[in-house]
Amino acid sequence: MDYLAIYLVCLLSLSSAKANSNIGVNYGVLGNNLPSLYRSIELLTTMKAGRVKLYDANPDILRLLSTTKLKVSIMIPNHEISGIAANQSIADEWVRNNILPYYPNTLFRYLLVGNEVLSYNSEQGHKMWHDLVPAMRSIKRALNSQNIRGIKIGTPLAMDVLESTFPPSSGTFRSDIRDSVMAPMLKFLNRTNSFFFIDAYPYFPWSQDPNNIPLDYALFRGDFTTRDPDSGLIYRNLLDQMLDSLLFAMSKLGYSNIQLVISETGWPNSGDIEETGANIYNAATYNRNLIQRMTAKPPIGTPARPGVPITTFLFSLFDENQKPGPGTERHWGLLHTDGTPIYDLDLTGKKTNTDYAPLQAPKNNVPYKGKVWCVAAEGANEIELAAALTYACNVANMTCDALSPGNECYEPVSIPLHASYVFSTYWAQFKSSGATCYFNGLATETTKDPSRNSCKFPSVIL
Ligand SMILES: *[C@@H]1O[C@H](CO)[C@@H](O)[C@H](O)[C@H]1NC(C)=O
Ligand SMILES: *[C@@H]1O[C@H](CO)[C@@H](O)[C@H](O)[C@H]1NC(C)=O
Ligand SMILES: *[C@@H]1O[C@H](CO)[C@@H](O)[C@H](O)[C@H]1NC(C)=O
Repeated sequence: MDYLAIYLVCLLSLSSAKANSNIGVNYGVLGNNLPSLYRSIELLTTMKAGRVKLYDANPDILRLLSTTKLKVSIMIPNHEISGIAANQSIADEWVRNNILPYYPNTLFRYLLVGNEVLSYNSEQGHKMWHDLVPAMRSIKRALNSQNIRGIKIGTPLAMDVLESTFPPSSGTFRSDIRDSVMAPMLKFLNRTNSFFFIDAYPYFPWSQDPNNIPLDYALFRGDFTTRDPDSGLIYRNLLDQMLDSLLFAMSKLGYSNIQLVISETGWPNSGDIEETGANIYNAATYNRNLIQRMTAKPPIGTPARPGVPITTFLFSLFDENQKPGPGTERHWGLLHTDGTPIYDLDLTGKKTNTDYAPLQAPKNNVPYKGKVWCVAAEGANEIELAAALTYACNVANMTCDALSPGNECYEPVSIPLHASYVFSTYWAQFKSSGATCYFNGLATETTKDPSRNSCKFPSVIL
């Protein structure tokens, strides 16, 4: 090799840190303003994601992925589980239609059967619980019979599969699924040398108990520690604590060697006024520290299982504006929908915290105290507002009398003003039973009192 060639090789290796296959990104598509599939895959590649995880098996995406080095994880939707469990031909057909056309060019690694199936506690949900492991077995048989290799079968579960998580050594699966679902599932995962896929978000336990859990502990910072009195293990961050509670629960069923994959984790970059701690500063801090941990060499692992690497999928590629529920649900993205980063994030784990430019200080790390109203979003469609208004006024126990002709909120007659009154009334009345200020994107929260003259808008007091 001559001098120029050596120089070029050095230059290239400096400028192009390789994607780290421990880090993947979830690619959810519940938005009406997202970049094209082609552009999205291009973005994943330029971000140097090592893996991508889909919530289905979209043929156009799978075709696009066949020209990349991204390791691919696909999902069988929940509603297909029971059919697959009941009839091997349906499982065979699923594999024939969704994998074979792209195999082996598309680098399939994980085939996930359903999503958080054990969190659906309804009659229909219980049927899925019962069918979940049989469906996993059928899909495994289908892969084997079609000679497809190198794909692990799993199912992402949420932390609510545990009935006890603290201290971690008390970790136990819920009694309604322990023997009927978890035991056969662990047997399957162990036999097939697959992984336990867990969706683990320190943001949720922290946001439910911010007075007792230090924010730094959730963000992998500071020197707060907790000691598990039974195992003697010392915890320095909330994620380790959560993961170990799962490892202890598995051990209690006799499985102490099944490896974990974090199928979703992350931190919201924004949210509703009452969603303390949802901001860019915390999201960047969480994800940067997480990536540095998960790409460390040698691997760090957790206190109960030190030194074992954990493949981790960040949630999510984009903010998804069509997800219902609280504001945070629509703000888990790494990228704006124009493809620019919401905050700088190095997925290869090469950048350390001092390599990043300083972030703007967070404004909502302490809870907002005061009144909040729920009003029509600027520019919301008036026909949709009118429909939402009618819907809300017909909900049991709602009263919209103030809007009747001659009453205090009738004038001025304007659909956005009337809708704002109804949204505020509805939210004030039903927030305690879980209502959010959303109305399919028609509503937004405000700290500015929209009341006028004798027309008083009900508020939520935080
Ligand atoms: C199984 O599915 C195949 C193909 O969808 C269908 O032809 C067959 O009748 C089914 N068998 C049973 C027992 O339902
Ligand atoms: C799990 O798999 C390992 C390796 O195949 C095996 O030695 C072990 O007995 C299995 N554990 C259980 C509880 O079946
Ligand atoms: C309506 O109010 C009644 C009486 O206070 C209560 O029992 C009922 O649960 C309420 N219904 C709804 C949908 O909130």
